Amino acid sequence: MKKLSLTFAIIFVMSSVIRADEGMWIPALLQRNEAEMQAMGMKITADDIYSINHSSMKDAVVLFGGGCTGELVSEQGLLLTNHHCGYGWIQRHSTVEHDYLTEGFWAMTQDEELPCPGLTAKMMRNMVDVTDKVLAGVTDATTDEEREKVIKENIDNIVKSVENDTEYAVTVESFYQGNQYFLIYNEIFRDTRMVGAPPSNIGKFGGDTDNWVWPRHTGDFSVFRIYVDKDGKPAEYNEDNVPYNPDYHFTISLKGVEEGDFTFVFGYPARTNEYLPSVAVNQEANVIYPVVVDLRTQILDIYNKYQEKDAKVRIQYASKHAGLGNGWKKWMGVIEGIRNFKGIEKKQAFEAAYNDWCMQERRRMKYMHALRDFTPVYEEYEKYRMASTYLNEAGLSVELIKFAANFNKLSTVDKDTPQEDIDKIINNLRGTTASFFKDYYQPIDEEVAVAMFEAYRANQPEDFRPGILNEIDSKYKGDVKAYVGYLFGKSIFTSEDKVNALLDDFKPGKAKKLAKDPALVAYNSMLDFYNENVKDKTIECNKKINNLRRVYMEGQMKMIPEVYPERNLYPDANFTLRVTYGKVGGFKPKDAVTYRHYTTLDGIMQKENPDIYDYVVTDRLRELYEAKDFGRYADKDGSMHVAFIAGNHTTGGNSGSPILNAEGELLGLNFDRTWEGTMSDLVYDPSICKNISVDIRYVLFLIDKYAGCRRLIEEMTIDE
Ligand code: ARG
Ligand code: GLU
Repeated sequence: MKKLSLTFAIIFVMSSVIRADEGMWIPALLQRNEAEMQAMGMKITADDIYSINHSSMKDAVVLFGGGCTGELVSEQGLLLTNHHCGYGWIQRHSTVEHDYLTEGFWAMTQDEELPCPGLTAKMMRNMVDVTDKVLAGVTDATTDEEREKVIKENIDNIVKSVENDTEYAVTVESFYQGNQYFLIYNEIFRDTRMVGAPPSNIGKFGGDTDNWVWPRHTGDFSVFRIYVDKDGKPAEYNEDNVPYNPDYHFTISLKGVEEGDFTFVFGYPARTNEYLPSVAVNQEANVIYPVVVDLRTQILDIYNKYQEKDAKVRIQYASKHAGLGNGWKKWMGVIEGIRNFKGIEKKQAFEAAYNDWCMQERRRMKYMHALRDFTPVYEEYEKYRMASTYLNEAGLSVELIKFAANFNKLSTVDKDTPQEDIDKIINNLRGTTASFFKDYYQPIDEEVAVAMFEAYRANQPEDFRPGILNEIDSKYKGDVKAYVGYLFGKSIFTSEDKVNALLDDFKPGKAKKLAKDPALVAYNSMLDFYNENVKDKTIECNKKINNLRRVYMEGQMKMIPEVYPERNLYPDANFTLRVTYGKVGGFKPKDAVTYRHYTTLDGIMQKENPDIYDYVVTDRLRELYEAKDFGRYADKDGSMHVAFIAGNHTTGGNSGSPILNAEGELLGLNFDRTWEGTMSDLVYDPSICKNISVDIRYVLFLIDKYAGCRRLIEEMTIDE
């Protein structure tokens, strides 16, 4: 009987195991993938991609700012990333006179390139396996608590021992849930300047409507440049700094892509959870995400209603809408994908095989226990996760309450607080206040507040309701509207004048009254509730889960090579540099529908609608289109290709990553995935998981023909 179920499980899982496109590989270990990559069409070697002995492609890829990837494309530090990655900087440099978001920005000379203080570019220079050193002193008998302590000490010692002998910043990062550790050397560039960006109706074409969607027509790129001091070393911004001459920069290919072409993506994926047990995936996709999606649907519907009515409100809520909408759409894709592609069932089948493997030897029992022990922990965790979810997604979606939270510090000063400190708090609050009211529309917020408190009350059990919800019951007989009327009627935080008057004339004697403002009371009721009833339990559950995940991962690392020898293991994304590879190709998202692998400028013209903000096309782009003035950037079919999809396993953080061809030449910039495949963060399915890239030829066409910024084209290395 046992035997039978094992065979069954293996056959069931096999179909989902041979999936060449899956995996985010550690560049230092890429030798292991070389044969497969070459069999898929790659013409270069793993050593060309990653080497510490000579310059290689890794010297041309950076972590751009805090969460994106960028790549170097010239000997003068020219860097490409996405428009949505440069967005904050484009916005910061914009004024009413020079609205670069709307008009685009092009530095026609190097002098015009704009400093971006605080923007870093981090380049990984070396990574060394230090697992043995990190785990020194840890045995099977070590308790989880001791383990944490020992590891922390070991890591501190490793960092200390190398810190002084290197010009680079060093960190130790955990892979495979704490089963492997790498010491990583990073070079951090601190003078990165803004060079160019297309107007938003190109760089964000399709906006949130098209976000996560294929077919896509977004020119999602922007251009920056890294500067260094005269010795070629990273330095803070200085007028005298010079363009950085990197060890490597990508050659650009104008050849485009065809169905079946080999590609790889080199970048900084942030987080995936591919090795979770089915109970966890189930909780994520079937319990938590549906709640978040439902709450956000209600909020976004309210935003939409008012945004459609009023152009000013549309702009005020554009970025808030984008922020909520991005996760909302992605998680809908995860929920559907997990259901349609049987994510839970595949995990369960794998777990059956895993258990069978554990049963074969006594010393594998701990691995079986780890898997089994997840269930009660996740059961307990669910209540607390739900509590946090309602707190964050419902309670704190009321802008008034979130804004009021900033005043908590001020509401607790007293006559002993030094005036200097009070002045500092007040100064900060002035900025916060101005930017809050610039984009605040009270009717939206009131409606959101009613919807969110209703949902909060209706869906959280009594012992998981912050005091403020009980007050709605006791004081307002459960009438949420009446409470919200009181909240917005009484709070000073609805009025910029009142808030400014408070700041202008603040005295410690006023703190007590401030603390009684109903918005602040609501916030503190939620905060107290979290601190008293949720926080510690959440930390405790997380600790347990992380320890179980470590052991379960270790078990999987032993079992998979034995039971599925063809399956190559890779660690979850952890914001370190990775390589992923796959082939260009369309897909079938649902019955009767087939997607081609590329889009063209024709599609932009089809989508054009001067009345819909996301689909406005500038006269200049239309003229170029009508004149078919694409120069050498046209495809051999004569059209202008805009974007394409391929089977690369990417996630958030891969935005801006170079997508490269068999020769390692730049084909485009990764910027998104198709929403049908967003479950790839939890379970990968090659038939549906596709990454979306903007075609480099469209990027160059825009720089050259549209913006006329020839000097940038001239410094690039272009293979016609
Ligand atoms: N979905 C992409 C990502 O996760 C792009 C987001 C920015 N674009 C947008 N239209 N909101 O970051
Ligand atoms: N747009 C995402 C980013 O900013 C990439 C899309 C994804 O999640 O794959 O990193």
